[in-house]
Amino acid sequence: MSCQTLPHEQHMDHQQEMMKTDGELRIVAFLCNWCSYTGADKAGSNQLPVPPEVSVIRVMCSGRVEPTLILEAFQKGADGVMVLACHPGDCHYKQGNLRAFCRAELLERLIPQLGINPARFCFDYVSAAEAEKFSQLTGDFTEQVRRLSIPVT
Ligand code: FES
Repeated sequence: MSCQTLPHEQHMDHQQEMMKTDGELRIVAFLCNWCSYTGADKAGSNQLPVPPEVSVIRVMCSGRVEPTLILEAFQKGADGVMVLACHPGDCHYKQGNLRAFCRAELLERLIPQLGINPARFCFDYVSAAEAEKFSQLTGDFTEQVRRLSIPVT
């Protein structure tokens, strides 16, 4: 049976199961189209290292990333979630990144209540010109999440 033929809830369980059993680290990165995504693109063009564990989701503005999307990513098995935005004052939609910053602060306080270490969440600013920062941030965050994911013996 293919995933498309499963009823919605079964499909979700199936997805979660698939995401949890292969042992790979998964980082979901929501990138603003106008800044961070372009920075990520430049990192690729410049052959800067970006961990393969990072899965990019391109959004038009960091302000479009609702907290429920972040929580859903964790629920579906993400080991870490990043939201990368335009620098303050550079948002193409005026205050989207400010909204995203406020939500990030809220989430950092909320997710420990859900049993998620807040170090598994990252909000930061990456401009279109900051390919090196993108490479550095994704590398550092992936390593941080990897350390958190090592079972305690
Ligand atoms: S357009 Fe980039 S954060 Fe709003």
